[in-house]
Amino acid sequence: MAAESPPNQAEIDWTKWRRPEPGEVRSPCPMLNSLANHGVLPRDGKGITKEMAVKALTNAINLDVEIAKFFASGAIATNPDAHAHSFDLTHVRQHGLIEHDVSLTRDDIAFGDNNTFNPEIWKSVVGTYGDSKETNFALASEARYNRVIACKKAHEAADKEFIYGIKEAIFSYGETALLMCLLGDPKDGKIPVEYLRILVEEERLPYEEGWRRVAQPVTQKDMKHIVFNLIHANEHKSAEASEIGLGTVHALQNAVTSLLPSYCVIM
Ligand code: HEM
Repeated sequence: MAAESPPNQAEIDWTKWRRPEPGEVRSPCPMLNSLANHGVLPRDGKGITKEMAVKALTNAINLDVEIAKFFASGAIATNPDAHAHSFDLTHVRQHGLIEHDVSLTRDDIAFGDNNTFNPEIWKSVVGTYGDSKETNFALASEARYNRVIACKKAHEAADKEFIYGIKEAIFSYGETALLMCLLGDPKDGKIPVEYLRILVEEERLPYEEGWRRVAQPVTQKDMKHIVFNLIHANEHKSAEASEIGLGTVHALQNAVTSLLPSYCVIM
């Protein structure tokens, strides 16, 4: 049976959240899962067309339509059926397409489950914020880079292949930037840690706690601004640049910020 189109922003009743039931599928992405839990994406997580994904991402959370189209095309490309015009949330876990090593909330594929929320890993990440009520560039950068180091060590200790190159760095920085843009103010990267925890731990938009979708669509310019600041705030940016095979921090900044649009064009 064809799933229904997601509702318009005005029609979204954010209180209609529920956990997935048996047979309903979810992804490694806390935002897609949250949107399915709210019924903004199909609750069963299946048969999501490009149109449905774009409508959900633009209407519900005010992502710029061009970025939304890029993400939705990327999601459809994860469907093992190359002729498909839709995707299920389980498809996007396929390693090496969008899913990558160094996740903040899931384990890496080499250690088994790259799809399900992992409370232990998340505890180590969210612990970086300590008693802070809000995120900032320095702490978000530290939380992210700590995962690079921890994942690298874990792979080395287990003699497994660790993949963290330019593409993975782009996705990793991009994911933190998305959180900062869509849960808070795209200019200053501050979001309440409570919002972050609710999205990740409950897979729910923190509407009851005060979150509202951003007033203006979040654009690539917003994302680049946040990514630039995250790199700038990373105390280990030189080490990270050489880790991914780039000679200088400037090259890292250029790679991550200027490759974002070309990835969009490619997909
Ligand atoms: C069609 C749209 C989207 C698709 C297909 C998608 C897919 C994915 C996938 C496959 C991952 C796993 C990456 C990894 O291995 O860590 C992921 C992670 C993530 N996504 Fe999405 N995503 C989409 C939209 C969004 C949006 C709009 C947000 C906004 C906040 C978002 C936030 C995140 C975050 C924060 C992570 C990192 C989770 C972690 O590191 O454990 N995603 N997404």
